[in-house]
Amino acid sequence: MALASCCAALSNALPGNVFLPNSNTYASANSNRWSGTSSLSPSCVVLPGSTQDVAAALQVLTQNGRPFVVKSGGHMAKPGFNNIDGGVSLDLSRLNSVELSGDLRTTRLGTGAEWQRVYDNTPGVVVPGGLCGGTGVGGVSLGGGMSIFLAGVGWTANNVVDFEVVLANGTVVHATPNTNPDLFMALKGGGADFGVLTHITITNAQLTNFIYAGQVLNGLTDRSSQALLRVLTRYTTANNRDPGAGMQTIFKLGSNGKNEVETLYGHRAGLNAMIPVPFLSPAIFNELLGVLPQTVAFAAPAPMNILSNMAQDGLATITFQDDQATIEAVHKVTSDICKQVVDIPNLDCFWSYVPLSDIVTANSLKRGGNVLGLERKRIDRMVVFFSPRWLDPQYDARMSNVSQAWYSQAKAATVAQGTADDFFYLNFAGGFQDPISSYGADNVNFLQRVAARYDPQGVFQKLMPGGFKLPQGY
Ligand SMILES: Cc1cc2nc3c(=O)[nH]c(=O)nc-3n(C[C@H](O)[C@H](O)[C@H](O)COP(=O)(O)OP(=O)(O)OC[C@H]3O[C@@H](n4cnc5c(N)ncnc54)[C@H](O)[C@@H]3O)c2cc1C
Ligand SMILES: *[C@@H]1O[C@H](CO)[C@@H](O)[C@H](O)[C@H]1NC(C)=O
Ligand SMILES: *[C@@H]1O[C@H](CO)[C@@H](O)[C@H](O)[C@H]1NC(C)=O
Repeated sequence: MALASCCAALSNALPGNVFLPNSNTYASANSNRWSGTSSLSPSCVVLPGSTQDVAAALQVLTQNGRPFVVKSGGHMAKPGFNNIDGGVSLDLSRLNSVELSGDLRTTRLGTGAEWQRVYDNTPGVVVPGGLCGGTGVGGVSLGGGMSIFLAGVGWTANNVVDFEVVLANGTVVHATPNTNPDLFMALKGGGADFGVLTHITITNAQLTNFIYAGQVLNGLTDRSSQALLRVLTRYTTANNRDPGAGMQTIFKLGSNGKNEVETLYGHRAGLNAMIPVPFLSPAIFNELLGVLPQTVAFAAPAPMNILSNMAQDGLATITFQDDQATIEAVHKVTSDICKQVVDIPNLDCFWSYVPLSDIVTANSLKRGGNVLGLERKRIDRMVVFFSPRWLDPQYDARMSNVSQAWYSQAKAATVAQGTADDFFYLNFAGGFQDPISSYGADNVNFLQRVAARYDPQGVFQKLMPGGFKLPQGY
């Protein structure tokens, strides 16, 4: 069946929810993506209004063998991951419900919601979702999910108690610890390989929405870099003893000469729980706050939605064992690469460090574990997210090379220090990386068995080109 007639069949199955390139709704839905590199031209955009709509759409697509893509928050920048040329774009942005349970312990979310919307609509609790408010519930949860409370409650996916999924044949299933437990496990890191995730029910991180939140902005100099790298290394160890704390540091070299480093930090302890008036910063942040003169700073008990307005993005990732000499070596490689591209107009060369202390794995295991494979090595890790941004597409090819060069040089620096780690966080990985293989052979085998059971025709491997596929040959 030709694509035009597939879009017509979808229109019949989902009247009022299918939009062709000549419509305003198509244009606004199609451009509602974080990165220009993911702007492509689907034959039609489907905006399902319910789980049943998703099921009906998948039935039409699989019966007709038409290529499609799924989009939630649209934050993945890799071309073809959340959009498609010529195929059908299944855009979940209307599935954006946010329902707090009566006892406030859990929240049920439509996967098309952005996290900012979740935080804005959950007064009284903190939901452990993406730090950047524009990221989507769907993509963040399926890849693992790093919230500011990563150490305290483990990965976002580890707090999900119910995944509602539409399988390739249009059947709606729930995956919980007791129902379809193999699918439940696979969805905690396995990405878009098993079905279309329509809703999740997630355990709230705490029953007060006040967290201790702060931001420190420093000028980027050799001195501030050295000081902050030391803080990050030591903080990663200290986080094991005070897992209520969260921190991310984002460096930026800009073509406009604006070089900055921003640290976002938070603590789960709420206003009432621990902070006297005038409030004191939790001790774990003393070194961060004492080390440098700050150009801009705020620190206050604040609702979660303040912090979620402030974070950044990326194109490639590595992980290494938390170590001072290694972070310095990686930092040098990254700064040198960024300096080579600041001739590109309107470019900001961003990279961030996310501490991944062993306590994250401990707290994820307590909640039933996941498929990321981190428990194979009980160490403190540091994740690096290389995420340059630029405006003019004529530089896309050059920047794609730069991101691969960054990856190989940064990885080599960790290997030289003897602190390299295999893990690639799927949600930060470049299209040239293979995050699922980094979970280890046992997890890959498991994921393949689960995919064979729930998607026997391999629809999500073959008909949906976007997303990191399951590795072959295991
Ligand atoms: C500025 C920025 C800040 C970020 N901050 C964070 C952060 O704080 N914490 C963190 O963990 N990550 C962060 N990330 C990474 C983020 O997790 C990924 O970009 C993630 O994929 C975004 O999810 P999304 O729903 O917005 O993406 P989308 O682009 O919509 O989807 C990403 C992938 O998942 C698939 N997918 C999405 N929804 C579904 C679904 N419902 N069912 C099946 N497949 C689906 C898509 O097909 C696609 O392949 C950040 C990224 C950026 C750009
Ligand atoms: C990118 O790298 C490839 C292979 O090394 C090279 O052929 C190509 O010219 C590079 N492209 C740009 C724009 O730098
Ligand atoms: C849909 O697929 C699932 C998983 O393979 C299977 O259990 C179920 O019976 C299928 N349903 C129909 C109606 O074919």
